[in-house]
Amino acid sequence: MKILVAGASGALGRPLITRLRGAGHDVWGLAHRPESLVAIEQLGASSVKGNALDRESVFAVVERIRPDVVIDQLTSLPASPFDLPTRLPADRRLRLEGGGHLFEAARMYQVRRYIQQSCGFYLDGGTGLATEASSLRINAPGTIGESSRMYAALEKRVSGVPSIEGVGLRYGFFYGPGTWYWSDGAFSRHLARGEVSLIGSGRSRFSFIHVDDAAQATVAALTAPAGLYNVVDSQPTRMSEWLSAYADWIGCDAPPHIDEAEAFHRMGEESLYYQNSLTGACNRKAVQVLGLSPRRLPWLEK
Ligand SMILES: NC(=O)c1ccc[n+]([C@@H]2O[C@H](COP(=O)([O-])OP(=O)(O)OC[C@H]3O[C@@H](n4cnc5c(N)ncnc54)[C@H](OP(=O)(O)O)[C@@H]3O)[C@@H](O)[C@H]2O)c1
Repeated sequence: MKILVAGASGALGRPLITRLRGAGHDVWGLAHRPESLVAIEQLGASSVKGNALDRESVFAVVERIRPDVVIDQLTSLPASPFDLPTRLPADRRLRLEGGGHLFEAARMYQVRRYIQQSCGFYLDGGTGLATEASSLRINAPGTIGESSRMYAALEKRVSGVPSIEGVGLRYGFFYGPGTWYWSDGAFSRHLARGEVSLIGSGRSRFSFIHVDDAAQATVAALTAPAGLYNVVDSQPTRMSEWLSAYADWIGCDAPPHIDEAEAFHRMGEESLYYQNSLTGACNRKAVQVLGLSPRRLPWLEK
């Protein structure tokens, strides 16, 4: 299959290219920085330079390549999760506007399938784990609500055109090489410097996914039935449990504890919500249909 990957040089884009090439596909990787184009070629794909925010260049790329499938992994996230609030407007613009150009071009040039990155960690599972029928947390406070509304718009876009097979992959929190959650990642540095606290009882359940497992599921999504899939691991774990295990894994002290009232006063409603309201997601459909077989979280292995 001829496949155009946008965001091909990102944390997921790289293992995805490797797996797509390994499965024998003709892979084209879109990025805009020169060093990213070199990295894409080194991974065995053809690189194509283009700025997703430039409508004409996106249409020219899709017209030239005429892919069977477009995989949209465009993000503009910061090196540290602590900088998310300042970077979210640019990220939202890239995914909605830049990804919008890509989707329109895919439609114009009769791309058969469009695979969209979505989110499996801001789903509302109610009293249990979130399924594919669960909605995003569009009414949550702060950046959680903002991001959820963006992901909801992306899912709506990809499922709304009969001529395109739309697939939305609701990935868990990425971990692994090149991500925030890895031994050399930004979250580990913040934790080691004592900049992360456990708020209240840390009731939120987190669903992670290793970027290489996410890549495996994305390759499987090339031929699976269209629709939504929760691409998350099999260990949805409470913040109170995984945070101390993670600290142990990177060899630092367990984080300090702050009670809910103090956290609300010092950090606002969003921090409290983030650590105490997330439900985690169920991966049954992705396991059955995409053959997802997620590795175990390394920080829970001890
Ligand atoms: N589910 C999750 O938890 C999740 C999801 C996404 C990201 N993240 C986290 O966010 C951090 C950064 O993610 P990442 O490594 O994927 O981001 P990244 O390295 O910034 O990659 C984003 C991709 O989008 C491309 N891109 C950005 N702006 C573009 C534009 N205007 N036109 C064309 N292409 C453009 C980049 O190309 P260039 O290289 O040329 O800039 C790159 O290929 C990581 O820690 C990752 O774990 C987490």
